[in-house]
Amino acid sequence: MLLSIEHLRVAFTVGSSVRQAVNEVSLALEEKTKTAIIGETGCGKSVLAMAVAGILPDNAHSRGSITWENKPLSEQLLKTIRGNKLSLIPQNPLGSLNPVLTAGFQVSEALARVRPALNKLALYQNTLELFHAAGLDQPQTVYHSYPYQLSGGMAQRVLLAAAMAGTPKLVLADEPTKGLDLDTRNQNVLLLHQVFENSALLLITHDIEVAATCQSLLVMYAGEIVETGQAEAVLTKPLHPYTCQLLAAHPSQGLIPIPGLPANMTKLAAGCRFADRCALLGKLNASQSQLCLTKHPALNKCGVTAAVRCWHA
Ligand SMILES: Nc1ncnc2c1ncn2[C@@H]1O[C@H](COP(=O)(O)OP(=O)(O)OP(=O)(O)O)[C@@H](O)[C@H]1O
Ligand code: SF4
Ligand SMILES: [Mg+2]
Repeated sequence: MLLSIEHLRVAFTVGSSVRQAVNEVSLALEEKTKTAIIGETGCGKSVLAMAVAGILPDNAHSRGSITWENKPLSEQLLKTIRGNKLSLIPQNPLGSLNPVLTAGFQVSEALARVRPALNKLALYQNTLELFHAAGLDQPQTVYHSYPYQLSGGMAQRVLLAAAMAGTPKLVLADEPTKGLDLDTRNQNVLLLHQVFENSALLLITHDIEVAATCQSLLVMYAGEIVETGQAEAVLTKPLHPYTCQLLAAHPSQGLIPIPGLPANMTKLAAGCRFADRCALLGKLNASQSQLCLTKHPALNKCGVTAAVRCWHA
C-alpha cells in the first residue's frame, strides 16, 4: 500500500474554542490509483491533504496514523519524500506562488531540491522542459514572468510543472481547475492525468465532471467521509442522502440547493451530522428519525468497494 490513513483527526484551536476539521478519516491509496474527493466548502478536504503533506498550521492538532509504503509517515520521512515522491499542488495557485519571484525561479528551486547536482544552466533548461511538459506554450516568457503576469490557468500549469520536478508516487491536487473556463479546465485535467499517469492522484474538487475522471470517489461532509466507492457508481447511483443532494445541487443536475448551512464544526451534533439538512429524514418514521438524531452513524461497507455513513441509505 502506498498511503494508508487510519482514524485521522485534525482540530484547530481558535481562541478558546476547538474546531474539528477532519474526523476519523481512514483511507488507503494503492500506487497509480486516481481518487477524487468532493464535498462542500469547509468539509475538511484541504486539511486532509495538508495533514498528508505534513504542512498543517501551528494551531492544528492531529491524531491517528498515516503510513507511507507501510512505514509511519514521520517528519523525517516527509522531509525526504516531499517535493520528490510526494507532491502537493495547492489550492489557489496565484496565492501559492511567491509574488516577488519569477515563476521560473520558483520551479527551478523545486528542481534544485530534488536534483542538487544540476548546474545553473541545466536547471534553467530543465525548468523550461518542465514548463513545456506542463503545457505552457512559451516556456521562456513564463520563466521570466512574475505571478501577477500569469493567468489562473497558467499559474496552475506552473504548479503542475513544480509538482513534476520530482518523480511523485503520490500527487495531492487541491482544486486544480478552480476558476478556469471549461476549455482550460478540460485541458488541465487531461494533462494532469497524462503527466501523472504513473502516480497515485488524490484530486480534490468541487467539479463533478472532474471527479468523474478518477476511478474512486470519497464524499466528505463535516470532516468525515460519508460515502466512498467507484466514482462512476457514486456519481450515477449515490447512496448517501448528502451525495444525492450534493449532486442535485450541481448545475447540470437541476441546481437544487441543499437547505441550511454546513455543520458547525465547533459544536458537532451527537447524531448524524447531516441530520438538519437531510431530505430523507422527514420521510422516516419516528423511531428511524430518532436514531438519526441521537446516534452517530458509522461508515459501513456495502458491497466490495462502497461504504456509506447513514442509518437508512
Ligand atoms: N488555520 C486554520 N485555523 C482554524 N481553522 C481552520 C484553519 N484551516 C482550516 N480551518 C477550518 O478547517 C475546516 C476545514 O477546512 P478546509 O480548508 O479543509 O475545507 P475545504 O473542504 O478544503 O473547503 P474549500 O472547498 O472551501 O477549499 C474549516 O472549518 C476551516 O474553517
Ligand atoms: S443517518 Fe439519517 S439524517 Fe443522516 S443522512 Fe442518513 S437518513 Fe439522513
Ligand atoms: Mg480547500
